[in-house]
Amino acid sequence: MRKTTLITGGAGYIGSHTALALINAGHHVLVLDNLCNSCRECITRLEQLTDTHVDFINGDMCDPILLDGIFSRYDIDSVVHFASLKSVEESVRKPLDYYANNVAGTLNLCKVMAAHEVFKLVFSSSATVYGDPAQTPILEDFGTGKPVNPYGRTKLMIEELLTDLCHSDPRWSIALLRYFNPIGAHESGMIGEDPKGRPNNLLPCLTQVAIGRIPELTVFGSDYPTVDGTCVRDYIHVVDLANGHLAALQVMQHHSGINSWNLGTGIGYSVLQIIHSFEDITGITIPYRFAPRRLGDIAKCWADPSKAGRELGWSAQRGLEQMITDTWRWQSSNPQGYQSSIETPARVAVK
Ligand code: NAD
Ligand code: UD1
Repeated sequence: MRKTTLITGGAGYIGSHTALALINAGHHVLVLDNLCNSCRECITRLEQLTDTHVDFINGDMCDPILLDGIFSRYDIDSVVHFASLKSVEESVRKPLDYYANNVAGTLNLCKVMAAHEVFKLVFSSSATVYGDPAQTPILEDFGTGKPVNPYGRTKLMIEELLTDLCHSDPRWSIALLRYFNPIGAHESGMIGEDPKGRPNNLLPCLTQVAIGRIPELTVFGSDYPTVDGTCVRDYIHVVDLANGHLAALQVMQHHSGINSWNLGTGIGYSVLQIIHSFEDITGITIPYRFAPRRLGDIAKCWADPSKAGRELGWSAQRGLEQMITDTWRWQSSNPQGYQSSIETPARVAVK
């Protein structure tokens, strides 16, 4: 049997780009996803991009019998764990769903991993675990803060659970990858972010305004203490982020214990800077209006990614122009996301 990397949530936005990076680097991967926020078509496109069959199981990580069967059937030596519910707004309305899926699902996964003596785990964490940091850029050794919503608290709880687990048994090797704001898409335009329902994050909202699915963009807050009064974030290309997982897996071959790494670019952009860059790059005017601040938003958030540079040999390679160009290529070629026909890609016009 071939050594296999299990990718939970591998049909989702970041998981699919990471699956592609791992396959291209010669890994054998198995994707487990219950498609609650993704489509089977994504796996088909991964197969087209890699010209290989991609092993895929449509199933739930919360199901211990299913997981046990998977670990018995495949020679899994590492897990990259993306599966999670991720809407901040929904997590406030349905906290139990978030704690059950994200926290209990991870607990279930770790139990089955331990039973099958698989001890390498890469976990999708988030800058949200820092809460509202006293200063920027954010370093890993600032320590975690107080996330302001149930989604964020599930990420912090899982980090703590995994830390306790690592301390209990030296065989574990766990990477906590703290993502800043992933945007962009694979340069082929064949895979990208395809949120079900109305999106909440800035780039999906912006591109949906650009293709006419949403009439105007709402900019939350104009009075933050930033360069132009709008919030500043560290946007990172999803392909760079995917490569960060590859780098973590390589380093974990030789190390045990738990470690956290910021995956960001170290550069912050305001909401208005993003809108204006998008307009400059695509030639499309984005109608927008200001609204009051969104509950739970912090003014400024960007990474100091130098620890990942030193220890993983990883740094982001793609700048804002490429992030926006690739986002727009994906969205304009697939106006309905994965529901769009692959035979009729409308190529993006880039100035
Ligand atoms: P996504 O929703 O596109 O991908 C998550 C995938 O997990 C989906 O395909 C979904 O169907 C699947 N899933 C959810 N629960 C499952 C379950 N119980 N069993 C099997 N599959 C399940 O989200 P994403 O943007 O790709 O995020 C991936 C990970 O990164 C998540 O853990 C998320 O919390 C984390 N993260 C994302 C961001 C971001 O801005 N996108 C930022 C920080 C952290
Ligand atoms: C949000 C979550 C964070 C989560 C991340 C990925 C909150 C408070 N934080 O990060 O926990 O890990 O998404 O899912 O929700 N904006 C607008 N108009 C819009 C959408 C966004 O002005 O229509 C602004 C926001 O106010 C923010 C910036 O754009 O200032 C980025 O927003 P978003 O993409 O949602 O990311 P975060 O809020 O940083």
